[in-house]
Amino acid sequence: MKKIKNIQIVNIILILVSTLVLLWLTNLHGFTGLCRWNPQYNRILLSLWASDLIIITLFLVSLINFKNKKNKKLLKWISLITSSLVSLITIALFLVLIIPTFSKVESNYNLKEIESNNSLRENEPLLKLAISSDPHWGSENSNQDARTQILKTIGDSNYDGFLCLGDVSEIGSTYSSYDLALKEFENNLNGTPIHVLLGNHDALINGTVFFKKYFQKNQENFYSRIDYDNFHIITLDLLWDAKEFNKKQETWLISQLEEIPQEDMIIVLSHCFGYCSGYKDPETGKEWYDNKDVIENVDSILEKYNVELVLSGHNHLMEFLKHSNTSYSIIGTMGGLLDRASEYISPQSVWLDNTHFGYLDLQVYKDSLKLTYKDQNGIDLYSTVVKNN
Ligand SMILES: [Fe+2]
Ligand SMILES: [Fe+2]
Repeated sequence: MKKIKNIQIVNIILILVSTLVLLWLTNLHGFTGLCRWNPQYNRILLSLWASDLIIITLFLVSLINFKNKKNKKLLKWISLITSSLVSLITIALFLVLIIPTFSKVESNYNLKEIESNNSLRENEPLLKLAISSDPHWGSENSNQDARTQILKTIGDSNYDGFLCLGDVSEIGSTYSSYDLALKEFENNLNGTPIHVLLGNHDALINGTVFFKKYFQKNQENFYSRIDYDNFHIITLDLLWDAKEFNKKQETWLISQLEEIPQEDMIIVLSHCFGYCSGYKDPETGKEWYDNKDVIENVDSILEKYNVELVLSGHNHLMEFLKHSNTSYSIIGTMGGLLDRASEYISPQSVWLDNTHFGYLDLQVYKDSLKLTYKDQNGIDLYSTVVKNN
C-alpha cells in the first residue's frame, strides 16, 4: 500500500514538472509566433501538450477505486511510466533551452549605444541616421560581403547613429552570431553609436536571454523611446505580427504619442512590418505581405496620431509605401538572403526593390525627413521626402 502511495507522489511530481516546463516554453518571448508562422513547430508544441494531457488523464483514471486490485496497480505503473517518459523529454528540452541563461558572453566591445536624450544640430540636416535590418549573422545563405560593406559605408559617412531593426542573428540562442555582429560593428562603424531591435530570429528559442546580454542591457522591455529635441524615435516590440503588442505595450505607446506635441516629428521602428509587398510561403502557406494584425492593431494607432514615418525589416527587401498621412519604409536588406520577386504588391507601395543589399539614409530637416535608399556602397537607389504632419 505504501509503495503505491509513493508511486503516486512521484507521478504527481513528474506531471507537475512537465506541465511547468510546457507553460514556460509556451510563454517564451516570440515562441507562439514561431508556432503560428511555422506549422511544424505548432505540431511539436501541440504534441507536447497532448502528451501532458494524456499523463494527467491516466493519473486521474488511476485514482478510481477499481474492484480488481491487480488492474489498479497495473494502471498506476502505466501512468508512472508514461509520466516519466513525457517529463524526461520536457526536462531535456528545458535543459537545452536554458543554456543561454548560464553562458558567459564576451562583452569587451568598444561600442556606444544611442542615448535616450540627445540634441539636434543647429544647421540642416539636423540629424543623419543610417537604418538597416536583417543581417542574419550565422546564416549560411546571408551575404557576408554585402553586410560588411554596408557597415563600412555607414562608418565612413559620419552618421549620428546606426539603427538595426532586428534579425541580427539567424538563431538567437547561438551567441556566436552576436559576437560576430559586435566585432563587425566595432571594426567598421568608426564609433557610430548604435541601437539594435529584437527580431523574430533573435528571439529563437529563449534567444532573448543572449540578446539582453549584448543589446538593450538596461531596458526592461524590448520597446523604447529616444528623443532628439522635437524629433522622436519610438521603437516597438513586434516580432512576427502584433501578438507581442500586448495591453502593456499598447498603453505605453499611446502614452508616448499623447505626450509628444503634434508639431514634433515621430518615426516608429519595429522589426515586423504592417504594410509591405511580399509572397506566399509555399511550404507554410503563410502570407508574408500586408500583415493585417499589425495594420489593424498598431498602424491604426500610429496613423491616428499622425506619425510621420514607420520603419521595419522582416521582409528582405526595400520598399517605400504610404497610407493615410503616414509613410512606411521597409529596409530588410542588410545581408539576409534577399526575398524572391514579390508576387503580391501592396496597394500602398510607391517604390520597391529586391535586387540590392543596402540601407536607408535618413536626414532630419526642420519640417521634413529626407529618405534615401542606398546600396551597400552608398550609391543612391531612390530618394523621397516625408513632410511633417
Ligand atoms: Fe529576417
Ligand atoms: Fe524577421
